[in-house]
Amino acid sequence: MTLREGLLLARAGDAAHPAAVAAFTRLAAEHGTPFYVYDAETIREQARSLLAAFGPRFPKLRVRYALKANTNVEIVRLVLSEGLAPEVVSEGEIRAALRAGAKGSDVLFSSSSKSPSEIDFSLEHDVLLNVDNLDELSQVSAAAVRRGTTARISFRINPGVDPDTLHQINTGCSESKFGVHLDGGIARKGYETAKSLPNVVIAGIHCHIGSQINDTVAYEEAARKMLAFVRELKEELGIRLSFVDLGGGLGIPFRDGGTGMSPEELAKALQSIWKEEISLLGYEPELWIEPGRFLVAQSGLMVARVNSVKTTPVKSFVNVDAGFNTLLRPAFYGAVHRVRVVGKTAAPMTLDVAGDVCETGDILAEGRLLPTPEAGDLVVFLDAGAYGFAMASEYNARPLPAELLVDGDEVRVIRRRGTFEELHRGEPGGAEVRP
Ligand code: LLP
Repeated sequence: MTLREGLLLARAGDAAHPAAVAAFTRLAAEHGTPFYVYDAETIREQARSLLAAFGPRFPKLRVRYALKANTNVEIVRLVLSEGLAPEVVSEGEIRAALRAGAKGSDVLFSSSSKSPSEIDFSLEHDVLLNVDNLDELSQVSAAAVRRGTTARISFRINPGVDPDTLHQINTGCSESKFGVHLDGGIARKGYETAKSLPNVVIAGIHCHIGSQINDTVAYEEAARKMLAFVRELKEELGIRLSFVDLGGGLGIPFRDGGTGMSPEELAKALQSIWKEEISLLGYEPELWIEPGRFLVAQSGLMVARVNSVKTTPVKSFVNVDAGFNTLLRPAFYGAVHRVRVVGKTAAPMTLDVAGDVCETGDILAEGRLLPTPEAGDLVVFLDAGAYGFAMASEYNARPLPAELLVDGDEVRVIRRRGTFEELHRGEPGGAEVRP
């Protein structure tokens, strides 16, 4: 059986299957732990399922990939090779998109806080600027005038829609820091101003209401509000847009037996609203969407090794060689990632999987019923391909984990493990530091 089949068996719950044991044992022996491993085919499947759901329903469609979910250039290249375009939030992500072969003019840049040099860099590469506020708008215009170029812009709208998701990843509600509010006429003022400013061309409109969203209700509400506003722009300001970007945020099932919202469900729900609104609008802009998590989360596993197991008067812990420096989501958001113990089935016990960071909060999984692990066993965290490595750090002076890409039976190191020297890069004498 192939490496990929081994990974998929563990994912499906059979981490004791000989093919799963062989796959993880081989990867850990060759590359050390902890590491991230991504399955290329799962990424392709996710991209294709989005295109299959949205493509036939929206003839004028552009699907983007939100690079923040996973910025590894090999992953970006893989996603873009499926026909997607980049959505980015920093100069570093613009550079990652360019490295992966994207054209600057295909990049959409959406940060809510762009520095003057990021604006300049975007203009230099003809990146589409998704403007967050009126102050930024005037800076973009001034920079374009100074450079003798034209800025293509859209506005990130705060539609005042509250999706049912974690507070920390809810971005569309009125209290969030993102975008120009529809309320109070701020968004309208933005477009009106943009129309009158020199060296600015209005291209479209954008919103992103949040992340890990599992029903269509909030999307529908956002789509209605956005399209009604697009009509207002046409009728009252004479502005026609070439695209309407409804953001990312598609959730995935993080639990066994769980079902997320399928791309089909979302595409279907949006289609009827779109049709209705487009006939009122009298022209059809492109529909853009820009998921991150949906494309890469399920492809990724984070693999750690058990250092020790201990029972206290209160509970039992399995200490592993990864922590919130490796996978931040459980500690930061209370996120739940399923855990598999490789090669074990016997004697299930309730355990906390504890990280190796010196902080009480460094618990990667809490109160899980797992086959009793022993020192040396491998432990796999599922759905770690999005916001996993991307949010990793070197806290506690631990080098960054390796990233591996499996395609069938092939494995490629797409980022080698960090080194102890790298912990001191940029420090005076850092290059000379030896482990
Ligand atoms: N577009 C914009 C403007 C965004 O801010 C985001 C995510 C996306 C697209 C992609 O959202 P997705 O499809 O991945 O849900 N670190 C958190 C998630 C933060 C998402 C921030 N914005 C987590 O680990 O759950």
